Amino acid sequence: MNLIESLNWRYATKKYSDRKVSADDLNKIIAATNLSASSAGLQPYRLFIVENQELRNKLGEGSFNGQIADSSHLLVFAAFEKITEEHIETYINHIASERGLPVEALADFKAALVNGILNRTDEVNFTWAARQAYIGLGTALIAAADLQIDSTPMEGFDADKFDELLNLKEKGLKSVVTLALGYRDEEQDMYAKFKKVRLAKDDFASVIS
Ligand SMILES: Cc1cc2nc3c(=O)[nH]c(=O)nc-3n(C[C@H](O)[C@H](O)[C@H](O)COP(=O)(O)O)c2cc1C
Repeated sequence: MNLIESLNWRYATKKYSDRKVSADDLNKIIAATNLSASSAGLQPYRLFIVENQELRNKLGEGSFNGQIADSSHLLVFAAFEKITEEHIETYINHIASERGLPVEALADFKAALVNGILNRTDEVNFTWAARQAYIGLGTALIAAADLQIDSTPMEGFDADKFDELLNLKEKGLKSVVTLALGYRDEEQDMYAKFKKVRLAKDDFASVIS
């Protein structure tokens, strides 16, 4: 399938079969997500891949999304609650080491990051970090579709419970969105046969020439 065919093929899966996503495919989805663009390249979020069935049962308790427990894997996107000088310093040191540059060569970039990010409230920075996490969600969703792996993006989960069970608070993180991965149960999932509904191209996009 080409990309548009894969994106037409995918849908927010409601019922999964027992088939598991292979470690190889999972690693491809993780690698693709890690390659997502992010504002200034700071990647202010982290990805957790929950495989453990018992844990997923607990995470899914009380949610209308059975896919939390019934899919093959659950990806949890968690954004940093605060952006600190340490985040920026670690990032600058990482660029310097990856690109073989002296840290001093990045002084202006670092100052711009400190000025632009650390002068904002933690609330503004968390919202910004969460937006970057959603870009990662989009990449993961497309990567899964490209591999013909089904997925469900989900905001219907108890973030406080997730943060507690996944020990996110102590890492300075807060869960913002999740993505179930697996293979559709074509028989049990009526959504598998529904026609995809999207705006007509001209209602969605306007070319300004
Ligand atoms: C951010 C986000 C949150 C969503 N939350 C849920 C959810 O909690 N449960 C669910 O079954 N689908 C959820 N969806 C799936 C949407 O309902 C679905 O993408 C939309 O209806 C379009 O259908 P399609 O993805 O099957 O083409 C979510 C989608 C997005 C992008």
